[in-house]
Amino acid sequence: MCSMLPAELKARVNELNWFHSIDLGHGIVTPGRDNSARKVARLQLPESLAGKTVLDVGAWDGFFSFEAERRGAARVLATDSYCWSDPRSWGNKRGFDLAREVLASKVEDQVIDVLDLSPGNVGMFDVVLFLGVLYHMKHPLLALERVASVTRELLVLETAVDMLDCRRPAMAFYAGDEFGLDATNWCGPNPAAVLDMLKVAGFARVRIIAGLRPWWFRWAKAAWLKWKFGLPFWSMVRTDRIVVHAWK
Ligand SMILES: C[S@@+](CC[C@H](N)C(=O)[O-])C[C@H]1O[C@@H](n2cnc3c(N)ncnc32)[C@H](O)[C@@H]1O
Repeated sequence: MCSMLPAELKARVNELNWFHSIDLGHGIVTPGRDNSARKVARLQLPESLAGKTVLDVGAWDGFFSFEAERRGAARVLATDSYCWSDPRSWGNKRGFDLAREVLASKVEDQVIDVLDLSPGNVGMFDVVLFLGVLYHMKHPLLALERVASVTRELLVLETAVDMLDCRRPAMAFYAGDEFGLDATNWCGPNPAAVLDMLKVAGFARVRIIAGLRPWWFRWAKAAWLKWKFGLPFWSMVRTDRIVVHAWK
C-alpha cells in the first residue's frame, strides 16, 4: 500500500511527462495523451489472466502491464528500450516506476530491445502484448520472429496499418518522419501483411479482433490529430489501427 499523501502524489505525477492514463487511486489519473482505457477495451484481453505469465513488450508507462496484473496474471514482465533508455526519446521510465510504487505492483521490468528477445534472455510467456510497437520496427518480420520465440500461447498485437487500398499484402516504408511526423516510425503494413507476417513468424492461427474503422471515423480522427498535434491530414487519413490475436 502506498503511503504517499494525495497532494504529494499529485505533485509527483505533475512533474512527469506521461503517455498512459493510469488510475492511481485517490481520484488521480495520470495525464497521458493516450486514451488507455479505450485502447484496452479494443484489445479484447481475456477477462481473467489468472495463473498466466505475461510479457508486455514496449510497455512505456506500463498501463497494460498493470492491467494484466489486475486481471490476475501470476507474473508480468514489462520491457522497453527506446523510451526507457535512449536520451533522444520522447519518454523515460520515471512514470512506470512511480505508477508501480503507487499501485504496490509486483510487475517486473527489463530494459531490452525487441530484437534481443529470446527464451534465453527473458524466458517464455503464456501471453505476450505487442502494442503500438510493430510500426516502430525497421525490421518488422524479424521483430515478429523474436516476439514469437518468447510466446507460448497467445500474442496480442496492436498496430498502425497503411496501404489500406491494396488487397495484397503490402507495407509502406517510412525513411523519414512522414508517418505522424515521427522519425521512429519505420513501417506501415496493411492488415493482410500483418496476418501473413505473423504466420511466417510461427503463429498457427491469426485473427483480426478489431479491424479497420469506417472512412468517416478515419477522416474525423485525422482532422482531430491535425488540430491537436499538427499532424499532416492526408498522411493520417491513409492509416488506421488494428488489433490481432495470434495463437501458437
Ligand atoms: C507508441 S509506444 C506504445 C506503448 C504501449 N505499448 C502502448 O501501446 O500504449 C511504443 C513503445 O515501443 C517502445 N519501443 C520502440 N522501439 C523499441 C525497440 N526497438 N525495443 C523495445 N521497445 C521499443 C518505445 O520505447 C515505446 O515505449
